Amino acid sequence: MDRSTPIQVQGLNHSYGKGELKKQILFDVSVNIRQGEIVIVTGPSGSGKTTLLTLVGALRSAQEGSVQILGEELRDARPSTLEKVRRQIGFIFQQHNLLGALPSLHNVELGVRASGKFPRSEHRKRAREMLGAVGLGERMNHRPDQLSGGQRQRVAIARALASEPAMVLADEPTASLDKQSGREVVDRMKVLAKEHGATILLVTHDNRILDIADRIVHLEDGCLSTFTDAVIANNHHMMQMLADNRQKQPIEQVVDQLNENEFRELLEEITGESERFLEATALANNVAFRSMLDRGLFAFTRKLGLLLNAERSSLFLVDGDELVLKVSENLEAMGEIRIPLGSGIAGAVAMSGEAIRIDDAYSDSRFNRDVDKRTGFHTRSILSLPVKNTDGEVFAVAQLLNRKDGHPFNADDERRFASFMQSIGVIFQTQLDLGAADR
Ligand SMILES: Nc1ncnc2c1ncn2[C@@H]1O[C@H](COP(=O)(O)OP(=O)(O)OP(=O)(O)O)[C@@H](O)[C@H]1O
Ligand SMILES: [Mg+2]
Repeated sequence: MDRSTPIQVQGLNHSYGKGELKKQILFDVSVNIRQGEIVIVTGPSGSGKTTLLTLVGALRSAQEGSVQILGEELRDARPSTLEKVRRQIGFIFQQHNLLGALPSLHNVELGVRASGKFPRSEHRKRAREMLGAVGLGERMNHRPDQLSGGQRQRVAIARALASEPAMVLADEPTASLDKQSGREVVDRMKVLAKEHGATILLVTHDNRILDIADRIVHLEDGCLSTFTDAVIANNHHMMQMLADNRQKQPIEQVVDQLNENEFRELLEEITGESERFLEATALANNVAFRSMLDRGLFAFTRKLGLLLNAERSSLFLVDGDELVLKVSENLEAMGEIRIPLGSGIAGAVAMSGEAIRIDDAYSDSRFNRDVDKRTGFHTRSILSLPVKNTDGEVFAVAQLLNRKDGHPFNADDERRFASFMQSIGVIFQTQLDLGAADR
């Protein structure tokens, strides 16, 4: 048995109830977690996260499949084996099972003693130190019923971590903690994992702590998916949100039907959502997410073109010392278009960071006729804008070609275009960050 992988779950099924009331909760769940690894489980309420945790923690017996924990097979295991495994695990569960008659200090001390890992003389010292670490230095002599819910939870956390267990199973450990205590708790867990080699499996909805994970897995309807799949599920959620109260349609169509104000609201919504999403996925480089964003960017860029009455709209991303055309009509047919920074109108915008408005492209020496040649399009007027990141660096250029009414773009078009570009800056930024992470 592989000791460097303390959690090995294979083909796990689990049902509650019997006969007609039997309901399957987990379906063919498989996951391996290495020593020292921190894995976060996300997923909607009722998806089976706690059930999975109790099976891994030997608190419930596995019915089908294989659950090997800390070198022991738990399926059909004897009670003594389950007990042995449980003793090596620090549990942080919602019902924290503190002993009501004992002060915090004794509750934590008992946890240290039960692990059997430390000499008697160290028990109290460890308990004190850990209670201090979770911010309860002043509450050591209070009994659970004299503490708030969040404080009780912190006692339970201190008890779980004080014995430096080989494994920590935590179910929403930061749920009732404020930001700072939540952070301290997860930082402790990180030390335990990285310095003491503990394996940590954590269920959380708390986006603020996702960054401690080496890996995030996602449970939905009892099926565990990889991070990539989870991202797709999340994207789906994001797209669904966009389509809220509207018929199920591809995002392109949804966007096409919005008036300017609705579109602006939608941009704000998706910008917020993608910020959160970026936070949640900061660890990952992800192809699925990018392809979704490509579709989103395409839809938005096209919508901008429509709102501003342009015949074409496109988006270039700065890539080293080149611009890459990312969004345009018939992009696939054109193949990849790269323009050196400083060449052409978009290149000039990227270099100077200033918008350029041109009434007659062919009379401007900076205009590059190559793209027209390749696409058969005839460019007349151009409105080209820099898109800047929070440091003020240009990372993209958005461009509109030809007003449909034949007039050149005016200052009002420029102002509206600029204000839209600002609100979707975050999405572009996300796109770029993930792109960079991929390379
Ligand atoms: N002891 C039980 N007997 C019968 N059904 C149960 C039992 N425990 C949980 N369930 C059911 O199993 C499903 C999964 O529950 P579980 O507690 O694992 O979900 P969860 O993902 O932890 O949800 P939450 O995010 O709300 O904590 C739910 O439909 C729940 O009602
Ligand atoms: Mg739960």
